[in-house]
Amino acid sequence: MRTRRVIAGIGIFGLAAAGAALALAWRPAIAPVPPPAPASFDPALVRRGADLALIGDCRTCHTTSGGAAFAGGLPLPTPFGTLYSTNITPDPETGIGRWSEAAFARALREGVDREGRHLYPAFPYDHYSATSDDDVRALYAFFMTRPAVAATPPPNELPFPLNIRLTLAGWKLLFLHPRDLAPDPTKDAVWHRGRYLVEGLGHCGACHSPRNLLGAEVVSRAYEGGEAEGWRAYALGAASRAPVPWDEAALTQYLREGFHPLHGVARGPMAPVVENLAAVPREEVVAMARYLASLGAGSGTATPPLDPSSGPGQAPQSAGMQAAIEGAGTDLYAATCAACHEGERPPPFGGVSLALSTAISGESPRNLVNVILEGLPARGGTGQPIMPGFGAVLTDAQVASLAAGLRRRFGGGAPWPDLEPAIREARAARHLAARPAAAITPAMTPAMTR
Ligand code: HEC
Ligand code: HEC
Ligand code: HEC
Repeated sequence: MRTRRVIAGIGIFGLAAAGAALALAWRPAIAPVPPPAPASFDPALVRRGADLALIGDCRTCHTTSGGAAFAGGLPLPTPFGTLYSTNITPDPETGIGRWSEAAFARALREGVDREGRHLYPAFPYDHYSATSDDDVRALYAFFMTRPAVAATPPPNELPFPLNIRLTLAGWKLLFLHPRDLAPDPTKDAVWHRGRYLVEGLGHCGACHSPRNLLGAEVVSRAYEGGEAEGWRAYALGAASRAPVPWDEAALTQYLREGFHPLHGVARGPMAPVVENLAAVPREEVVAMARYLASLGAGSGTATPPLDPSSGPGQAPQSAGMQAAIEGAGTDLYAATCAACHEGERPPPFGGVSLALSTAISGESPRNLVNVILEGLPARGGTGQPIMPGFGAVLTDAQVASLAAGLRRRFGGGAPWPDLEPAIREARAARHLAARPAAAITPAMTPAMTR
């Protein structure tokens, strides 16, 4: 209901704004060019473009799971409807093979395609607009030298009037502004590089900043935390609620390795970001970490270190665990989680102390609920999960009492008010039906104690 009203509001508003901006709205087509020969690009420029494409996560959005790289078609759910990424391989008919560098640059910086149509800001051109001429050239060289793949994405699924691209002209008038990247004489070159990457190609704020009802980032509240595909992208910088404050070294390690012993693993939509950053030159990631660290680190919410004698520290036995889960008033944490999270095995594959996790100290219970229900997949998606999911064996009431208990015990924050809806939404988004606790199967046990 509320969503529908919001959509209608956006539509009317967008139309009005678009009407007012009609004179500005129309963009000319840029003439097609013969597809440039791959050999015409300097290999060093292509390599540079490959790194920039990793920082920009281009492959993550423009590739379906199991599909050809950059051939598009990945569905991107937004609060307004589903968009599909496009084919950005150099195929002349279905991709960008006939795009000149000028057309490519305009798409990246202004969100306008070669034929002059406005593009939806799910493509984060509000960040990419900061990209320098040299870096656009390198990206162009990289994409024009990829294998061409013929593929057309499914049509976008947006309600009227949002399906009219002209409404985007109004949106852009309001929200597409150049980022203020004026030099700061008190900062070094590494910090400036980091700011350029974080605010620009890295588009970190696309997930980590809150958005307004029209889907635009609220610039005055940058990095105060946002939503991404059913996950919470935690607050970064001064608003961070990480139990141990982040610093440059910890950020560098987390962004490159996807894990830090005082912060845990990167999950959900953050997982591909760190997989991409693992492959770019280290100094680029150091620069990003330096800039982020300069935004502050919160005051830390860490509760005193865990007293190991407070938990059972015993591996749960299958039958015993089932009895424990079923038993009224049992400590679910002690029965199902402590063996790994207070165990002997070093992280990342032994779980970190939950007193260190922003999933529990953070602004929203959503990620904790996601992890409890679904577990954590193996790195790279193959092999045994690193943490089993409990969606099939815990009822909603059990998940709620477990999450509330963890918040009380380790979180150092006020109780979450929105726990039950978060559990319902997480189940619905993942198609995980609640089952009675008795459904626990012995087959789960090896994964749990591994
Ligand atoms: C968060 C997801 C996302 C990321 C990251 C992303 N794109 Fe896109 N991109 C899209 C979507 C969605 C569209 C289609 C928008 C539309 O239909 O209006 C698009 C459209 C484009 C287009 C226009 C193509 C056409 O045929 O109209 C180009 C060019 C493009 N992206 C290049 C890139 C490059 C280069 C990068 C990396 C620097 C990148 N994209 C990263 C989602 C993304
Ligand atoms: C597609 C959305 C998305 C993008 C883009 C993104 N993040 Fe994240 N990020 C998330 C989510 C979701 C989480 C929470 C993941 C989790 O629970 O492990 C997260 C977690 C983090 C954390 C851990 C915070 C904490 O307190 O535990 C850091 C640091 C971080 N991101 C930095 C970045 C940086 C730097 C960038 C840009 C290079 C970035 N992120 C881009 C979605 C995103
Ligand atoms: C088989 C061992 C195992 C069991 C059992 C287990 N976990 Fe985990 N868990 C892990 C591993 C490994 C990780 C990844 C390393 C890390 O980040 O802690 C993890 C990560 C997490 C995280 C993310 C921590 C962070 O911020 O990085 C949370 C939250 C979590 N587990 C909660 C639970 C809860 C609640 C239970 C009980 C219902 C549980 N786990 C049971 C192994 C386990």
